[in-house]
Amino acid sequence: MAIGRQQLAFIKELYGVRLKLGWHGYLRRDPSALLHLEPGRQDPYPLYEQVRARGRVSTTPLGNLITVDHEVCNQVLRSRDFVAAEDNNDDHQLSLLDMNPPDHTRLRRLVAPDFTAKRVTRFTPQIEQVLAQLIKKVPRDRPFDLVSEVAAPLPIAVITELLGIPDANAEEFAHHGQEFGSALGGIQSLSHARRLAATRKRLAEIFTEVFELRRREPSDDVIGRIVAEDSPVRPDELVPLCTLLLIAGFETTVNLIGNTVLALLSNPDQWQLLTDDPDLADKAIEEGLRYDSPVQRTGRLATTDTELAGRPVKAGEWILTAIGGANRDPRVFTEPDRFDIGRDNADDHLSFSGGIHYCLGAALARLEAGIALRTIATEFPDLQLAGDRRRRPGSLIRGMQYFPVQAPKLRQTVIV
Ligand code: HEM
Repeated sequence: MAIGRQQLAFIKELYGVRLKLGWHGYLRRDPSALLHLEPGRQDPYPLYEQVRARGRVSTTPLGNLITVDHEVCNQVLRSRDFVAAEDNNDDHQLSLLDMNPPDHTRLRRLVAPDFTAKRVTRFTPQIEQVLAQLIKKVPRDRPFDLVSEVAAPLPIAVITELLGIPDANAEEFAHHGQEFGSALGGIQSLSHARRLAATRKRLAEIFTEVFELRRREPSDDVIGRIVAEDSPVRPDELVPLCTLLLIAGFETTVNLIGNTVLALLSNPDQWQLLTDDPDLADKAIEEGLRYDSPVQRTGRLATTDTELAGRPVKAGEWILTAIGGANRDPRVFTEPDRFDIGRDNADDHLSFSGGIHYCLGAALARLEAGIALRTIATEFPDLQLAGDRRRRPGSLIRGMQYFPVQAPKLRQTVIV
C-alpha cells in the first residue's frame, strides 16, 4: 500500500519527536525529556525536582516551557492569556479539552449541570451496590488484581449508567480507555496510531447507536440533551464530546483508587490510621490525588506576550504545566514526598487542573473513590501487597495496569 503525503508527514513528525526526546533524555539526561520516556513513567518525582532546580519556569529541549511550580501552574491554568488549543485547530478530537471559548463555553454549559456535587450524590447507592458485587467476587484464598477486579469496573459501571449506555461491556470499555488514555501523552508508534483509530471507530459506533435510541426515545439525561433537536452541539462535536465524558469518566478514577491504595499499603502507619477509622477515606483520597496524581501534566499556549515568575513569555509559546510536580512543591506542601492522610492542605493540589478546564468530573471522582476506599478499608483491613505490579503505558496518565494484592483475613460479611 502506497504511503500518502499526509501519512508521511505524520510518520516524520512522530518519529522526529521520539528521536529528539530519546537523544535529549537518554544521552543528555535532560529531566524534562526523560519525563516523557520510561524513567518518567516509572517515577517522575526525582525528575520534577531536577526541573525545579532549574528555576520556576525553564525551557525544554523541544523549545517549549515547563513549570513544576505550584503558583505558576495555577496562574497559567487560570489565566486568560493562555489557552488549551490553537485557535485554528478545528479537529477537537478531545472535545472540551482542546477547545477554547466561546465553543468551549457552549458545550461545557450544556453538560455541567449533570456533574455538580449535589447531582452526583444520587449515584451513592449504585456505587455501594456495584462495590458490594465486585467484592463478593474477589477470590478469598489467593492474590487478586485490584485494578481489573475492583478499581476499573466501578467507574465504568457508573459513567456508562450516567451516559445511558445500555448493556455496557466493561472489559471492552476498559480496553478502549487504555488505548485512548495512553495516546493522550502522544502517539508512540504507527501501530499505536492504528489501535487508537480502531478504538475511536468502535466508540463512534457505540455512541451512534445510543444517539439513535435517544432520538427515538428522548430523555432528560446527558446524551438525551446533547442530541435533542434544540441542542447547541454540532453533529461533528457529538462523538468527541461523549467519548471524552466516557473515557475521562473512568480512565482517571481507576488510577486514583489504585494509586491511593498503593500509597497506603506502602505506608503501613497510614493504612492503619484508615482501617482504624474508615471515615478518613475522603481525606486519604485527597492526599492520594496530591501525592500521586492520575493526570501528571497538561499544557497551555500563550496568546499574548506576557511574563511568568519574571520570565518573559512570547505569544505562541507552549508551556507544560507539570501538575504532578506542582503537587510536590515544598513552598506549598511541607515534606511534600511524605504521604500523610492527615495533611491539612492536601486539597490545594492541582490534580483536577484549574480555570475553565477544571475537571468536570471532580465531584464524581471524589465520590466514587471515597466510597471505594472506605469499603476496601472496611472489608479488607489486612490487605497486603502481593507481588510484582505493572504500570500502565504512557507517562501522562499515571497508574497501575496490574496490581496484585491479598487479604489474608477476609471478613465474612459484605455490605450491601
Ligand atoms: C481522579 C479522577 C480524575 C482526574 C485526576 C481528572 C483530571 C482532570 C484534569 C487534570 C482535567 C483538565 C485538563 C486540562 O486542564 O487540560 C480534567 C478535565 C476534564 N475531566 Fe477530569 N479527571 C478525573 C475524573 C473525571 C471524571 C469522573 C469525569 C467524568 C466525566 C471527568 C471529566 C472531565 C472532563 C469532561 C474534562 C474537560 C473539562 C473541560 O475542558 O472543560 N474527569 N480532568
